[in-house]
Amino acid sequence: MRFKNTIIGMWPAIVALCCTTLSAAETAHPWSDSRLDADQRAGLALAAMTQDEKLKLVFGYLGSDMESKKYTRPPESHNQSAGFVYGVPRLGIPHLWQTDAGLGVASQAGPNARSGTALPSGLATAATWDLDGAYAGGAMIGAEARARGFNVMLAGGVNLMREPRNGRNFEYAGEDPLLAGQMVGAQIRGIQSNHVVSTLKHFALNDQESGRTTLNVKIDEAASRMSDLLALQIANEQGRPGAVMCSYNRLNGVHACENAYLLTEVLKQDWGFKGWVMSDWGATHSTIPAANAGLDQQSGMPFDLADYFGAPLKEAVLNGWVPQGRLDDMARRVLYAMFEHGLVDHQTAAPADFKANAAVSLRDAQDGMVLLKNDGNLLPLSRAVKRVAVIGGHADRGVLAGGGSSLVYPEGGNAVPGLEPKTWPGPVMVYPSAPLKAIQQRLPQAQVRFADGADTAAAAKLARNSDVVLVFATQWTGEAFDMPDLALPRQQDALIAAVAAANPRTVVVLETGGPVTMPWLAQVPAVLEAWYPGSSGGEAIASVLFGEVNPSGHLPATFPASVAQLPRPVLDGYPQVEERRFEVDYHEGAAVGYKWFDLKGLKPLFPFGHGLSYTRFDLSGLRASVDGGALSASFTVRNSGKLRGKEVAQIYVAPLGAAWEAPKRLAGFKKVDLAPGASATATVTIDPRLLAMYDPASKHWKVSGGDYRLTLAADAGAEPAASVVVRLQEASYDVNGKPLPR
Ligand code: BGC
Repeated sequence: MRFKNTIIGMWPAIVALCCTTLSAAETAHPWSDSRLDADQRAGLALAAMTQDEKLKLVFGYLGSDMESKKYTRPPESHNQSAGFVYGVPRLGIPHLWQTDAGLGVASQAGPNARSGTALPSGLATAATWDLDGAYAGGAMIGAEARARGFNVMLAGGVNLMREPRNGRNFEYAGEDPLLAGQMVGAQIRGIQSNHVVSTLKHFALNDQESGRTTLNVKIDEAASRMSDLLALQIANEQGRPGAVMCSYNRLNGVHACENAYLLTEVLKQDWGFKGWVMSDWGATHSTIPAANAGLDQQSGMPFDLADYFGAPLKEAVLNGWVPQGRLDDMARRVLYAMFEHGLVDHQTAAPADFKANAAVSLRDAQDGMVLLKNDGNLLPLSRAVKRVAVIGGHADRGVLAGGGSSLVYPEGGNAVPGLEPKTWPGPVMVYPSAPLKAIQQRLPQAQVRFADGADTAAAAKLARNSDVVLVFATQWTGEAFDMPDLALPRQQDALIAAVAAANPRTVVVLETGGPVTMPWLAQVPAVLEAWYPGSSGGEAIASVLFGEVNPSGHLPATFPASVAQLPRPVLDGYPQVEERRFEVDYHEGAAVGYKWFDLKGLKPLFPFGHGLSYTRFDLSGLRASVDGGALSASFTVRNSGKLRGKEVAQIYVAPLGAAWEAPKRLAGFKKVDLAPGASATATVTIDPRLLAMYDPASKHWKVSGGDYRLTLAADAGAEPAASVVVRLQEASYDVNGKPLPR
């Protein structure tokens, strides 16, 4: 615990702000009066700022030296961090120290990379379907960020999984706008409970990495409002992030960071967002168009071609090409979020409790693991087993993490250094939490032997001479690249098939960034999807395999049977050619993931929402009620098995008359924890946007009058456990889903 007792002392000399009587600081700095609201305080501080101070607040630097660009970071920044923005110390406005990302306090690569606690991947957290757990994870990483002297966390990734080959899916929260938006919103709230601003990103439709800076996304407005933008909108409502990060791609011809439709119309006007928009690192392309379109802060100098929001912005304002009022608005938005989220009032750091943080990560990993298959109840493993083979996946050393800017460096370093690629978006990181060790600890009397899987024949021989086999298969994904297909890489499919042929009592444990295909599925009785399980991952996997923890994760994304089932069997822009501009046509519109599969009548490998347990649940008693126009559904979940467990009850809604983008949508969910024999009744209120079609002309969500079928199901593919038809009146809701007078 290198940092256990370290209070990071990198904050500038600042005035202590608080107290009951007016201090000298309050008299001199009226904005330090915390009884005023954030708007008032931002207005007062802005009025005291010089033009140059405003300009500084809207211009960000990389917090890491870059030899290739002959760039030296500002001395006040924290080394090897994502970003830094000058505050106004003379006015008590702190600098902004920015760290990636959604899985913990990340680090740029290098000899002094800072270590931290890594949550499991965002997709793993989404697979928990547990809003409290997502909040707890956010609160934990936000506390670590603050302990390390950061006050902005570049978290809140909620790009929808339109493309299961997207290398960054592991950072996000899956394919459904309701689930993804709520989970990421809860995480943002947790982060910000530490007086740390979180971003929401990447705004918007940055759904693949191939050609991410050059591609142009084509999609019609209604479809985007009902899919990607809806996920962002829900996350914004739930999380109230202080900042939003605009993305690299173009949308309908215009770069996201100078896209007035996205930044000003949708985000600021329609959704009423009051914080600031920062660009992704290298996503600013102009001064005047970007500033006037609604970008508030250029990030990550020297990634852009020019310091657009440096001297050129000063000149543009001087000439009136960017109105002074716009620059004031840009700076005011930054200040607003700083006051609103306590960055000005709370400028000290408390030390992190790394032991407690490891427990948060462990729990998240356990709750997000998805038991995909368990024929003959091979799992949980018996402790009476005598000979166990553990094969592949570096399971003797640790668990895999995803690559790119979100990478958290673990205490203890990389368990398998030297894997390719070693440089960006690498290094390939294996967290030193070895499943093998955790398995051996649980079987002190047994013979637990390991084969690395490089030699298929040797692995099969070991399997043959064992009572049970645990094969670990990994798929490294990361930022700035996509997967060529959905197959496990490095001949692991052949390894699994050979091992399963040698011993039918084979369990496959997957550590993948997202969905993969499983040509060997019929040959193996049990499969556990462990995702990237974070810094306590080995322990989490063993606890689920041995039944100390009953698996309760459910898929936040469809696992396709093949790429042929996808809206784009061939991934546009892959393989990547630098600087090539091209278009991606999201012709599937809002029919993303299971909606596409339903629409086309396709049978996936595993449906959205799927996840098994070591106990059994009965779902029953579905009732719908409409109260003042608001639809809610109540139902009962009973644990009819012999073990304690958690079930995710899912409510889907399907119109019987109206035409939607797809046959049904997830309309609500609830995770319940039940002792054997116990039951619980729950009610979910359904967001009217999930019953409506978006109408761009009026900016209204319109519910057609008629019959709708609500179903209660264990996943999107299964026969529903119960269903009920409810009649809804025609109704309209405003752009944020608030009822309009009839
Ligand atoms: C990523 C962002 C990240 C930023 C700063 C970019 O490459 O797309 O998600 O926050 O870098 O590191």
